[in-house]
Amino acid sequence: FSPKPLVGQRVLITAGPTFEAIDPVRGITNLSSGKMGFAIARAARAAGAEVTLVAGPVHLATPRGVRRIDVRSARDMQAAVQAEVDRASVFIATAAVADWRPASSAGQKIKKDGSGQVPQMAFVENPDILAGVAQSERARSGQLYCVGFAAESEDLITHASAKRRRKGVPLLVGNIGPATFGQDDNALVLFDEHGWRELPRASKNALAQQLVAELAQLLQARQSA
Ligand code: C5P
Repeated sequence: FSPKPLVGQRVLITAGPTFEAIDPVRGITNLSSGKMGFAIARAARAAGAEVTLVAGPVHLATPRGVRRIDVRSARDMQAAVQAEVDRASVFIATAAVADWRPASSAGQKIKKDGSGQVPQMAFVENPDILAGVAQSERARSGQLYCVGFAAESEDLITHASAKRRRKGVPLLVGNIGPATFGQDDNALVLFDEHGWRELPRASKNALAQQLVAELAQLLQARQSA
């Protein structure tokens, strides 16, 4: 057993929420803290990987030895991932990417005009970054191992297994509710082609270390297959 089982791996991770601008001072976002993704970046680095972290707007310090790229919107995040993913051997999508963005963003602050009228807003769907990467040639041929996350409020086993297949990823990690946003601990369920197993409630740092250990084993099993 190597104490640094990810030596030689280049791991690309997305983390945090995205922010979708309505105008220069407003936008829509969500309550993701980025803690799980940052903890995985730290654990992967400690396991010897070269780690790049694409982070949405979060208030977290960069783990030592990790290269960080800050982004704001889903499309910024997608562009950063596209620029980096060809160098990666593992892609881990922990970001809570906004599903929709305003169809247009105003160049100036939208003013209240005193008439009591409220702005009408149209939305368009954001790209699914993980699904796009999972469909790429390198992912399909096994040169890039993709890991997705899922937060389901009910019937995690059914929904997360279906999501694993739909997104086309070999490993999907389910957050066991209730909402873990911003919390320091969590419990996870790992779904792969063989079924699922639980990582019981622990700190996000401890879970990240266990996840990295599992990942190292899965990568090793692939290599020797
Ligand atoms: O479909 P859902 O949002 O539940 O899928 C969650 C997984 O997909 C996470 O790994 C998340 O980072 C990724 N995702 C993404 N781009 C999106 C939506 C989700 O990469 N637009």
